[in-house]
Amino acid sequence: MRLELSHRTERFGAVRIHELQRVIQLDSGDATGATGDGIVTQAAMRAIERQMVIVIPCMNETRRVIEGVLSGIPHDCLIVLVSNSARQPVDRYEIEAQTLEQFCRAAERPAIIVHQRDPGVAAAFKAAGMPELIDDDGLVRTGKGEAMLIGMAVAALTGRTYLGYIDADNYVPGAVHEYVKVYAAGLHLAANPYAMVRISWHSKPKLRDGRLFFSRRGRSSEITNEFLNRLVAEYSGFGTEVIATGNAGEHALSLDLGLRMRLAGGFAVEPFEFVELFEQFGGVLDTAHPEVMASSVPVLQIETRNPHFHDNKGEEHVQGMRMQALNVLYHSPIALPPVRQAILDFMTAQNALAPGEEPPRERIYPPVGSLALDLLRESLENEADTFRQLGSATLVARPRPRPSLAEPQVVTSA
Ligand code: GDD
Repeated sequence: MRLELSHRTERFGAVRIHELQRVIQLDSGDATGATGDGIVTQAAMRAIERQMVIVIPCMNETRRVIEGVLSGIPHDCLIVLVSNSARQPVDRYEIEAQTLEQFCRAAERPAIIVHQRDPGVAAAFKAAGMPELIDDDGLVRTGKGEAMLIGMAVAALTGRTYLGYIDADNYVPGAVHEYVKVYAAGLHLAANPYAMVRISWHSKPKLRDGRLFFSRRGRSSEITNEFLNRLVAEYSGFGTEVIATGNAGEHALSLDLGLRMRLAGGFAVEPFEFVELFEQFGGVLDTAHPEVMASSVPVLQIETRNPHFHDNKGEEHVQGMRMQALNVLYHSPIALPPVRQAILDFMTAQNALAPGEEPPRERIYPPVGSLALDLLRESLENEADTFRQLGSATLVARPRPRPSLAEPQVVTSA
């Protein structure tokens, strides 16, 4: 694969946000790849894929679409499907489990599947030290962020190094394949133990008056990016458009980074990743991880070639997503007053808030690295009926990477 070189980065403390880079070639032939030419060889990508877990959050998606998604994930990645699908009147989770099992048999590869609302999963997270994840029914809360957190914890148990997320509602297996290849290429080029790669899809096809129209931007991303960029600009004193992937559902990171990060619930999860990087490694608040500050945190943003063709869940859904992003930005201790005011004005104008009202807070969970992973594994294996390791997938508990984090404290303000 050959990626456009990224010449410019914006810094926020130790966080280095790379300007959007395009995929130049999906396959760059036999070129060996010299430092700085953007080429990543097949061998280099495979080396990352062998160390990568792909987590698929899935809620009531159709079997055929899931099959397509599975088929697009490079062979050496370990698949972890975290389902929150209905179990009644039809047990959709069982259908997903059978689909994954058949796929694993045909493709001769392992995978792991688990249901988010399995009481055994709740018990495991409680035992491992994250009661915040459990709702009043005693089950893990519903939400995409919560599913991603479960996936990250399972990934940490496998002993692999990298984690990528792929939505289950993608109609184009080729796009799924490209996203994972880009994860591998980006993580290779980042060459840093604390790296993140975020996808900006090229276009989203829509039907307009009987014709296909390839829209360039997501309806939620535009707003999220605008406010994230304002947050950055308030510190630097220079306007910026560097953040292009505030809502990126498709993204990957090293577990060394991921396990140190708090995750937000629901659809606040992706925008909060930027906020969390700035809070922990931006140099504005105290950090619990001087080793990361010393190393830096590259965030690569890569524009892919395939159209992003997925299930359209409607305007209300998108509006909810947009507001969850703004809620986490508004409540961040590093959001300076002009940004907060701009968010309030925007939300009030959108009728999402009454005048004088504050945005609600989103749930923010402790880092997965603070969990007792040995206890988690034991409880998952013994108590969670839906937790299945297919093929040759077996869990190896990885040593706890870090002690739990204290809340970052404000040490300076701009
Ligand atoms: N396990 C689980 N639990 N999966 C969930 C849940 C949940 O509570 N909610 C949603 N999912 C799954 C869906 O089945 C789908 O595979 C994926 O998460 C994304 O959810 P969608 O509801 O389809 O979101 P979207 O397609 O509108 O938005 C996507 O793109 C946005 C950026 O354009 C998501 O990835 C967003 O997070 C992202 O910001």
